[in-house]
Amino acid sequence: MKTIELVFATNNQNKLNEIRSILKEPFQIITLQDAGIDIDIPEPHQTLEANASEKSGSIHQLTHKNCFSEDTGLEVFSINGEPGVKSARYAGEGRNFQDNIHLLLKNLEGKSDRTAQFRTVVSLIWDDAEFFFTGICKGTIIEKQKGTEGFGYDSIFVPEGSSYTFAEMGMEEKNKFSHRKKAVAQLIEFLKQKVS
Ligand code: IMP
Repeated sequence: MKTIELVFATNNQNKLNEIRSILKEPFQIITLQDAGIDIDIPEPHQTLEANASEKSGSIHQLTHKNCFSEDTGLEVFSINGEPGVKSARYAGEGRNFQDNIHLLLKNLEGKSDRTAQFRTVVSLIWDDAEFFFTGICKGTIIEKQKGTEGFGYDSIFVPEGSSYTFAEMGMEEKNKFSHRKKAVAQLIEFLKQKVS
């Protein structure tokens, strides 16, 4: 099958590593660095869909190539879906993972319901049309951080069906449960049909 080139609109190296472990041949990921683009992509909106769309749209305008982006939020049910779309900046503009985790654990003190989900929305721009794919991973927020792998909220999230946090798993194991993997699996199916 012919190689399918896609620009991935992210500056997040962790996401890039995860997506590379999922999107293999015939797909070829072009990073923003490969494309010579050095911008801080804005995420100004109130929904994951709108932010994903903003990211893929702005990179498509610059590259005129097929491209995709993703926006992910951790939604904790007992606090009205927080941090949600604000996941990266929950504790402030510094985007500091540890501060975000500490604030979340503080806001969950005394709550008996610690169920949550990661939700990833992928926006694909393919032949100038936009398509969305969503992946959800349900789980629980534990009280103390465990594990050193991964990024973001991985060390406090135990997915349903496991007793380990994402930060205690290698990438292959995380991908058995992951929101991002589920969204990208749909993207792959969609593109396979487009190019077959
Ligand atoms: P964004 O999609 O780059 O806006 O990420 C939102 C926030 O959620 C960031 O703070 C990330 O660290 C966090 N996040 C996104 N995906 C994951 C994940 O797979 N595990 C843990 N945290 C994540």
